Amino acid sequence: MKPRVVSGMRPTGKLHLGHLVGALHNWADLQEQYDCFYFVADWHALTSDYADPSGIAESVVDSLADWIAAGIDPERSTLFIQSLVPQHAELHLLLSMVVPIPWLERVPTYKEQQDQLRDKDLSTYGFLGYPLLQTADIIVYNAHYVPVGEDQVPHLELSREVVRRFHNFYGEVFNEPQPLLTAIPRLPGIDNRKMSKSYGNTINLSDDAETVRQKVRQMYTDPKRVRADIPGTVEGNPVFMYHDAFNPNVDEVNDLKARYRQGKVGDVEVKTKLATALNAMLEPIRDRRAVVLARPEWLREMIVESSRRAEREAEATMERVREAMKLRYFERG
Ligand code: TRP
Repeated sequence: MKPRVVSGMRPTGKLHLGHLVGALHNWADLQEQYDCFYFVADWHALTSDYADPSGIAESVVDSLADWIAAGIDPERSTLFIQSLVPQHAELHLLLSMVVPIPWLERVPTYKEQQDQLRDKDLSTYGFLGYPLLQTADIIVYNAHYVPVGEDQVPHLELSREVVRRFHNFYGEVFNEPQPLLTAIPRLPGIDNRKMSKSYGNTINLSDDAETVRQKVRQMYTDPKRVRADIPGTVEGNPVFMYHDAFNPNVDEVNDLKARYRQGKVGDVEVKTKLATALNAMLEPIRDRRAVVLARPEWLREMIVESSRRAEREAEATMERVREAMKLRYFERG
């Protein structure tokens, strides 16, 4: 039996290059060695978007299409939608009886997000419970590993603490999940700020070739280089960070860097070569994405079927949880 991996992503719109290097490439690779469960965390999207959930449905479909296009294989991994597996909610409720509120209040993302998303009222019960729902997502499958970014490590710590507290009261039921951290290249947006949909500085997996060329042309680069014969800085320059992340032709990249440092190459050449490399990488993703979106019935059936498979796993755990918590007074039959 392969060790189990569980990870989720909120459906917050079109996926971009940050998702690809930050999660999807890793998710795809993990399919070799692990029994992977990947899900769209649509209830988690509601923790911040509860006042206007109208965009979520489209984002769910976009996410699934992008995942499959990026190499997440529904034949090998269990892809599902959180809200199709109500056991996540049941376990979240039961865990909410056990978790002390200060444990949730001291999770760093709680205050950070409240500060950052000032236009939204995040003083809700559901938002406070975000990492507890995440805990339920993970332990309901008895995951061994959770591939996440650095920012999510405190969430996993909370998960392990909650599991231990649960075990103290009711006996052993769950695995203690461990984070699976991979070196993730930090990529800025095309304007050199943090890459984010809300800044409009992303290159999306669904962008067509011309859009990619246009965005690369606008990309922030060394501002000191007002002319091509001025020596430029490669380190921390977004154009070269993207070359490093996406251009497989290392000789070409090294040659561009050397000439850039000497003031012997124009930005146009550096950027044209980047756009070409990006489009070469994105082309097969675009094709697969189009195939998925052209078959909405296939997608629907696949996701319903594999959400059922997830539900069977989750239900088996919940049987043990109800048993441990002495909740089986009468069986429904
Ligand atoms: N919090 C994660 C994020 O924003 C999404 C998520 C929800 C998740 N549930 C999860 C990730 C369970 C891993 C496991 O990226």
